[in-house]
Amino acid sequence: MKSLEIKKLRVAIGGTRILQDVSLSMAPREIHAIMGPNGSGKSTFAATIMGRPDCAVQSGSIRLFGKEIRKLDPEKRAHAGLFMSFQHPVEVPGLSTEHFLRTAYNTTHPRTRLGPVEFRTRFEMYANRLRISIDLARRFLNEGFSGGERKKLEVLQMLVLEPRVVVLDEIDSGLDVDALKLIAQAIRARARKGTSVLLITHYARILKYLKPDRVHILIGGTIVKSGRAALANAIERRGYEKSVDGTKIVRRNS
Ligand SMILES: Nc1ncnc2c1ncn2[C@@H]1O[C@H](COP(=O)(O)OP(=O)(O)OP(=O)(O)O)[C@@H](O)[C@H]1O
Ligand SMILES: [Mg+2]
Repeated sequence: MKSLEIKKLRVAIGGTRILQDVSLSMAPREIHAIMGPNGSGKSTFAATIMGRPDCAVQSGSIRLFGKEIRKLDPEKRAHAGLFMSFQHPVEVPGLSTEHFLRTAYNTTHPRTRLGPVEFRTRFEMYANRLRISIDLARRFLNEGFSGGERKKLEVLQMLVLEPRVVVLDEIDSGLDVDALKLIAQAIRARARKGTSVLLITHYARILKYLKPDRVHILIGGTIVKSGRAALANAIERRGYEKSVDGTKIVRRNS
């Protein structure tokens, strides 16, 4: 069965059409990448999958393991096994990362709830794997975190929550080379355990480690081309205009 199946999605924000005819389908363990110029609709696509209220789905379907989720609120989607990281993670002063994650884990995994001690063991194991200091992991969520620390924390959240489908929006932006390799390995390990990974990126570099099954190019709100991993390298070398035949790249607001 497909884990995530999106058909002919059409989405508007504040009355402006942002996405049209976007279709994509993923199986468990698959890693797909989405690349595309600035403003092409990648983050909107991710936000629509997660159910951000301002992304109005005008038509099309979003199925998670066969179940239509387009009318579910974000919390219910998370309970159904979806996880999303944000391009710009927000600070939540007063909420410790560990506490937040334990609550999130226990609400999304009601049958395998973890007590504080068990949870801490798991939390520390994953933090170590990502070389995140325990002190950082215990601070208030994202408060005063550097750009790279925020991104690593997003990956830590993903590992701890063990979602069935993840959407990662520019998880590699602003990471140093060692951190990049580390998080790519962690994402790949997660996929091997059965999670489907949809990763939005501007760079072929992370894909070298991740070895995606498919790469999709989103331009002007629609997927204009899909291919194997080599497509990402072609884009890095030649840019979008020369890699995507016959498609004029129209940048919005320009
Ligand atoms: N609230 C909004 N109101 C109007 N237009 C919006 C709104 N949110 C997004 N857009 C527009 O939708 C388009 C797609 O934006 P989106 O953030 O999805 O792009 P992106 O592909 O993620 O770009 P980037 O690579 O820069 O992150 C842009 O032209 C943006 O200005
Ligand atoms: Mg974006």
